[in-house]
Amino acid sequence: MKKIVMMVLVCGVVAWSCHGDSLQNFCKADLKGPDGPAGYHCVPAETVTDEDFKYSFNGKPGIEVLNNAVLFPASVMEAPMFNGRGISAGRVLLRRGGSLPVHSHGASEVLYVTQGEMNVTILATRRAYVNYLKVGDFLIIPKCLLHYLENVGRGEAVAFAAFSSANPRFRFQHLEMYANNVPSPTLSRVTFLDVDQIRRNKARFNGTG
Ligand SMILES: *[C@@H]1O[C@H](CO)[C@@H](O)[C@H](O)[C@H]1NC(C)=O
Repeated sequence: MKKIVMMVLVCGVVAWSCHGDSLQNFCKADLKGPDGPAGYHCVPAETVTDEDFKYSFNGKPGIEVLNNAVLFPASVMEAPMFNGRGISAGRVLLRRGGSLPVHSHGASEVLYVTQGEMNVTILATRRAYVNYLKVGDFLIIPKCLLHYLENVGRGEAVAFAAFSSANPRFRFQHLEMYANNVPSPTLSRVTFLDVDQIRRNKARFNGTG
């Protein structure tokens, strides 16, 4: 009987101590050091404070992006406790009539609408997947798939995002297409777009060629 109780206790303790995917329980990023595939080095654990586990979008100006959208990133760069966790967060605000242009990231996303109404479209070969989202709805956006957001409500629309990476690295299609030095005639041939349109877009997004 004593042995059984002991075993139950030991198993309980083993199950309780959550063996995760890393040796350390936490690793606040040392953002002054190099960033590698496994993330940043950790700052000394004894320097970590209560507030390091918390992050707030309040008071953050956000990053203005086209078209009438504001991004509030909460990646490892802004919230260093995400380092090595394989998750991060963010928030997006779409002003009235605004949209977030076609983009992708190397992380899957959960997009949870907290204000207003959005249509989110995921682009795939041969068809697009469109969803109308209102407050309380969320969408699963698989990593690397192109997608865009539109405010389809009457006021502002806001969504909270969770990503399956500490650093999701947004890739906006218009920047990758036009903010480069590929000659416009070449870009026209390989993208099937009119060369004048390409020149206008290159001028708009600071590309050359
Ligand atoms: C939003 O998406 C829904 C569902 O696909 C569609 O019926 C509606 O027309 C869309 N609204 C706008 C403004 O595009």
